[in-house]
Amino acid sequence: MLRKVTLIEGDGIGPEISEAVKHVFAAANVPVEWEPAIAGLAAIEQYGTGVTQDTLDAIKRNGLALKGPTTTPVGGGHKSVNVTIRKSLELYANVRLAKSMPAIETRYSNVDVLVFRENVEDTYAGVEHWQTANVAQCLKLITRQGSEALIRYAFDQAQTLGRKRVTCVHKANIHKITDGLWLDVFREVAKDFPDIQSDDIIVDNCCMQLVSRPEQFDVLVLPNLYGDIVSDLCAGIVGGLGVAPGGNIGHDCAVFEAVHGSAPDIAGKGVANPTALLLSGIQMLQYMGLVAHANAIMTALIDTLAAGIKTRDLGGMASTMEFAAAISERVQPIQHEATGIMAGSSAQTTHHSVASHATWELRGADVFVNAANGLPKMPEQVGPFTLKLISNRGTKVWPGKTPDILLVDHYRCRYVAESTISRSDVRALVAAIEDAGFEWMHVELLHHADGEAKYSKAQGE
Ligand code: NAI
Repeated sequence: MLRKVTLIEGDGIGPEISEAVKHVFAAANVPVEWEPAIAGLAAIEQYGTGVTQDTLDAIKRNGLALKGPTTTPVGGGHKSVNVTIRKSLELYANVRLAKSMPAIETRYSNVDVLVFRENVEDTYAGVEHWQTANVAQCLKLITRQGSEALIRYAFDQAQTLGRKRVTCVHKANIHKITDGLWLDVFREVAKDFPDIQSDDIIVDNCCMQLVSRPEQFDVLVLPNLYGDIVSDLCAGIVGGLGVAPGGNIGHDCAVFEAVHGSAPDIAGKGVANPTALLLSGIQMLQYMGLVAHANAIMTALIDTLAAGIKTRDLGGMASTMEFAAAISERVQPIQHEATGIMAGSSAQTTHHSVASHATWELRGADVFVNAANGLPKMPEQVGPFTLKLISNRGTKVWPGKTPDILLVDHYRCRYVAESTISRSDVRALVAAIEDAGFEWMHVELLHHADGEAKYSKAQGE
């Protein structure tokens, strides 16, 4: 059965490299029917927007899109097409394959890492505030549901693709609550995949290991910010963004695209390298469960490069279509139809686990105050609350001797009660602090769950 796939050829070299991919897919007998849709410059010219609702609807209807690069005009207020697509379709997972290729010279060989990056949350939720004239804050949001969606999808894919090991990347030694939650969810999900080895690594060590022995890694799962950085690092160790493919996966649909741009300097000359878009197509086939087709095209691509047939950017002589023809000649067409089960299907139907606590008691508040003249003399007892701690940039500065550190005008004052309190107690606390002449910035409620404090510590406590 043919599956319809939305094809956005894009701008610049987009149409040329898309043509090359279609040629190779046809040679491999891939059971897809391309449905063209527009985005990028053509859409801006015709409709005044980089992505039309029709294109978004087409992607949703088909559940799949392969996208060439689109030009983001400088100025003019046009939003990036990629960001619009990612946000409009809630594409929560970014998947990038970093694989060593013959003829692409790098310091490393035998690298074959599949990187899964959470695509929505973390510091990318964009919740940022000025706290004082000198202090800016960005909230790092990690949710159980968002983490589980990404991690479960990664394990599902690892299983489908016969990968052996999934490694969770985190900084839970420092971000004990946010990355701690990420790591907990990883360990929970890993239990459902007993045939796959699972382990974890701290992100800084991961980077060091990647640049010294990248071949040791198989599948990596990362929250958004670490994933952003580490996926580019992985692209770098196999030859740079020019050959890096990617996929953005949502609950109902997925969009696959090369990481590079529309290369206006070589557009229309027939010399662009279609490798990255072809690798994105291979990732799409893996997602669709058409693993035999994906493998056949990957083998043909590697054979072609190993035979010294390369495009100009890799030091070869082949035009875009000569390169595509050479791959097509080598590809072993797959005769049987694969089951075509969407590899993301189990992730799509997952009912996210939601934590519940037997008790979830309000026990205090961190009140952040703006104090420009050194350590503020906060009231130590307010109603049911006792002042337990003041910290500055995360370091305890009260009680006890104030350490000799840079103090900024932003203090966290922790007030805790012996037993459960109410929100009106917290309102009264904030009012008392204001009445005492302090300028409060924001308030975080502190809870105990099942008898255990759920809030962070300050350094030096
Ligand atoms: P670019 O990736 O288009 O080009 C950088 C350099 O790499 C150029 O010299 C180009 O000729 C070369 N190059 C890129 N892809 C190539 C390929 N497949 N084969 C051979 N050489 C290739 O980056 P640039 O110039 O910064 O951006 C051009 C346009 O692309 C901009 O409008 C940018 O907004 C857009 N862009 C779109 C992306 C997307 O749709 N995914 C991603 C990045 C940029």
